[in-house]
Amino acid sequence: MAFSRFARTLASLASKQTEPSCSIAQRAFATTTTVNGIPVEVHNESGSKRVVVTKSLPGDRWLQYLVKAGCRVEVCKHPDIILSNAIIKQLLGGKCDGVIGQLTEDWGSELFEALRQAGGKAYSNYAVGYNNVKVDEATKRGIPVGNTPGVLTETTAELAAALTLAAARRVPEADVFMRSGQYKGWLPTLFVGQLLQNKTVGIIGAGRIGAAYARMMVEGHKMNLVYYDPYPNKQLEEYIRLYGELLRHRGEPPVACRRVETVEEVLKEADVVSLHCNLDASTKHLINSQRLAIMKKDAVLVNAARGPCIDEAALVAHLKANPDFRCGLDVFEDEPAMKPGLADCPNAVIVPHIASASLWTRSGMATLAAANVAGVLSGYPVWNKQDILPFVEKPMTAVPAAAPSIVNAKELGLKMASD
Ligand SMILES: NC(=O)c1ccc[n+]([C@@H]2O[C@H](COP(=O)([O-])OP(=O)(O)OC[C@H]3O[C@@H](n4cnc5c(N)ncnc54)[C@H](O)[C@@H]3O)[C@@H](O)[C@H]2O)c1
Repeated sequence: MAFSRFARTLASLASKQTEPSCSIAQRAFATTTTVNGIPVEVHNESGSKRVVVTKSLPGDRWLQYLVKAGCRVEVCKHPDIILSNAIIKQLLGGKCDGVIGQLTEDWGSELFEALRQAGGKAYSNYAVGYNNVKVDEATKRGIPVGNTPGVLTETTAELAAALTLAAARRVPEADVFMRSGQYKGWLPTLFVGQLLQNKTVGIIGAGRIGAAYARMMVEGHKMNLVYYDPYPNKQLEEYIRLYGELLRHRGEPPVACRRVETVEEVLKEADVVSLHCNLDASTKHLINSQRLAIMKKDAVLVNAARGPCIDEAALVAHLKANPDFRCGLDVFEDEPAMKPGLADCPNAVIVPHIASASLWTRSGMATLAAANVAGVLSGYPVWNKQDILPFVEKPMTAVPAAAPSIVNAKELGLKMASD
């Protein structure tokens, strides 16, 4: 089938997965060596605190934070894309003060115990979500855990919007059609999709990213919003109310925003449903076969949150039974694998977990993760303001003397920047 053939051709082009490269300045001062049997790139060799970074990171501002804090930085160059616990433990070795780790790694009792035994005092995830981290295991061992909120919001929301449009307007299917030479001329019935303008968008999880996505869809396509979140997002509601007023003032149909009491109400009402909740016990398989069955037959379902929020096998069955139903997925239940049959569904748009993949965001995430580790190792208090941009954008001589985001700060009794 043409769709699978296209997928195979593109896959062969992309088969060499590349890691983000370091900047020229950064590379110039780096040496490559082997530590505990693992290849690493070393920066600031004479630094007194050893910080291990499990994957190469984009940009070089992150490195400046660690160097300024007197750290020797070792970036793992092991060829495995996903590092096992055994490799990470080998990498940590007998002395390691801090780690920047990835969401693909299993940071639980085994790794935090290894870090504690190596004298570790700080860990930061290179992600805003931290469902791969057992925070209580770190807290038990007195290890602060950082994450990187605030720089992923717009980038992730934009990718969710891209998936929405690609699915609604069947962009990948039409692309396959063109590339395979099937286009013989314009036809009234060719790749007819869904118009979004003035329809209803539904959000599950109206936090930072959910609200940014909601604004894009409401402002861009004049969609009405219906959302479910255990907590109301008053700022978002007020924003849409004022935007509705503006439209009314201009003589255009206004938009409305409504928070509902159940996920089901969103699913029944919305033409597009996008998931933006965090993954925990309450959101695992939040979308299952029963809930898919109550969605509109030609709805679009988007997931740029976490794969297990959707029962993916149930989704595959639903896509097969309902060819007009479409989905856009950035994340997968058994990542990097997909459930059998998903790749053959032309009504699914699938991308490899790239929602945060803009250069600004990925560099910003590196900066925040490094500032977390550097801040803790320097004995700084924890930043307690929403606005983290000073860490990312101020000159290095004027950045706050704080760790930007430590998720277990309260449990560990860490001092806050404003205390
Ligand atoms: N695909 C990606 O690359 C990517 C990038 C960034 C973030 N994410 C995911 O997106 C999630 C959201 O990020 P954020 O910065 O907006 O976080 P956030 O904490 O600001 O928002 C999460 C929202 O989900 C809500 N929520 C919690 N449980 C819920 C439930 N049972 N039902 C409905 N809503 C629920 C919370 O109340 C909150 O408003 C992250 O946890 C992460 O897993 C994915």
